[in-house]
Amino acid sequence: MADDEMSPPSPAPTDPRLPLSAMQVFKLKKSWKGIKRCLEDTGVEMFIRYFKTKSPSKVLFEHFKSQSLDELRMDESLEKLAGKVMAVFDECMLNIENVDGTVEVMDRTALLHKGMNGFAATMFLDFQEPFLDAVKITLGDRYSDNMDTIYKITIRYLLDTLVKSHKALS
Ligand code: HEM
Repeated sequence: MADDEMSPPSPAPTDPRLPLSAMQVFKLKKSWKGIKRCLEDTGVEMFIRYFKTKSPSKVLFEHFKSQSLDELRMDESLEKLAGKVMAVFDECMLNIENVDGTVEVMDRTALLHKGMNGFAATMFLDFQEPFLDAVKITLGDRYSDNMDTIYKITIRYLLDTLVKSHKALS
């Protein structure tokens, strides 16, 4: 029997616009289930990390900018906003192989930030590190070096898509 008859069928290649292999998509979706169970908590942690940065863009969050980190942790409206932002990532992750679907989600999300005074598209990238830190905290031991690589590629891809969507608005 020829070798190729013995080996399992290789997964279908991903869309060339997606910077992840089929195996990375599989691992990401499996890992994301762990985040999905703690979506809001992960989102709040992400915002706390974001507000800890020196990013000037945080002043755009009028309601939160003057609160201490402890106050932010207890703020129900932050929990609500964090849930909404994480729901955007969740929607993308569940269909991450569908590049056109991700563009649609990000077009919608970009529109929410249209005409925001003092906002520039590249500010979305300020969420990259806070997102990775929060995911790392939620996953604990499950955040392997391999998952670190996969999440880094994924969040960069999602935020770049969002930046492009926002730039296309103007
Ligand atoms: C530096 C980056 C960002 C800035 C400065 C920013 C700014 C804002 C502000 C000022 C609001 C209104 C908050 C309020 O109602 O108090 C908002 C809402 C929102 N943002 Fe962002 N945002 C950023 C990144 C993101 C990212 C990365 C996502 C999603 C992936 C996102 C998704 C949303 C959503 C879903 C809402 C809620 C809109 C609603 O309530 O209808 N934002 N954003």
